[in-house]
Amino acid sequence: MTNLTIIGNGNMARGIATRALAGGFTVEILGQDAAKAQALATELGAGVTSGTTASAPQGEIVVLAVPFDAAKTIVSTYGDALAGKTVIDITNPVNFETFDSLVVAPGSSAAEEISQLAAAGVNVVKAFNTNFAGVLVAGQSGGQPLDVFIAGDNAEATSAVSNFVSASGMRPLVVGPLKRARELEGFQFVLMTMQANPAFADFNWDTGLLITK
Ligand SMILES: NC(=O)c1ccc[n+]([C@@H]2O[C@H](COP(=O)([O-])OP(=O)(O)OC[C@H]3O[C@@H](n4cnc5c(N)ncnc54)[C@H](OP(=O)(O)O)[C@@H]3O)[C@@H](O)[C@H]2O)c1
Repeated sequence: MTNLTIIGNGNMARGIATRALAGGFTVEILGQDAAKAQALATELGAGVTSGTTASAPQGEIVVLAVPFDAAKTIVSTYGDALAGKTVIDITNPVNFETFDSLVVAPGSSAAEEISQLAAAGVNVVKAFNTNFAGVLVAGQSGGQPLDVFIAGDNAEATSAVSNFVSASGMRPLVVGPLKRARELEGFQFVLMTMQANPAFADFNWDTGLLITK
C-alpha cells in the first residue's frame, strides 16, 4: 500500500520523498510526464512507484509538489478522487515577475485558495513551504533536525501530517488553522528575498528556518 503520493517530479518532490523513504514510508510519484516521474522514482530507489496524473493518487497523504497555478488545476481536476485524503500544499505563491509580492490577495493564502477549489471531504494542510528542497534532501540544517510548520483546519489531517513529519526524522510544529498559511507564506517570501539578496551573501538556498531557544 502506498503511504504517500507526491504530485510532481522536481526538487521538492525529491526532497520530501527522500525524507519519507528514510522514515520507512512508501512513495508514489505522479508526474505530467511518465518518463520524468519514472526517472525520479529510479533515482530514489526501493519503495517508490511512479505514474502520471492521469491516474488517481493511491496515497492517503497527497503532496502537491508543483507550482501554485498547477496545484489549483490538479485539485480541481482530481475532484472527488481526493475525497477523504489529506492534501499537503507546499506552494509559495510568489510573484516571480516582480519578486516583490505574493500573487494571492491580502487576507488569503495559496492553501486557502486551493482548499476552496477542493471537493468536499478533502483536507488541505499547509506544510513544508518553509523547507528548502536541498535542505530536505540533507535532512538537517546546521546539525539540527528540520522544523516543519503545519497549518490546517482538520485535526485528523494535521495529526496525520504531524505523524508523517515526525516519523521522517523532522520536528512537526502545528501552528494553527489553515489561515495561518497566510503568515507562513508571507514569512517564506521574506526569507526567499533574503536568499536572493547579495546583502545576505552568507545565506544561501541551503538555510533552514528553525525555532530554537
Ligand atoms: N524549491 C524549494 O526549495 C521550495 C521550497 C518550499 C516550497 N516550494 C514550492 O514547491 C513547489 C515545487 O517547487 P520545486 O522547487 O519542486 O519546483 P520544480 O523543481 O520546478 O518542480 C516542479 C514540478 O511541477 C511539475 N508540474 C508543473 N505543472 C504540473 C502539472 N500541471 N501537473 C503535474 N506536474 C506539474 C513539473 O513537472 P515537469 O517536470 O513535467 O515540468 C515539476 O516536476 C512550488 O510550489 C514551490 O513554490 C519550493
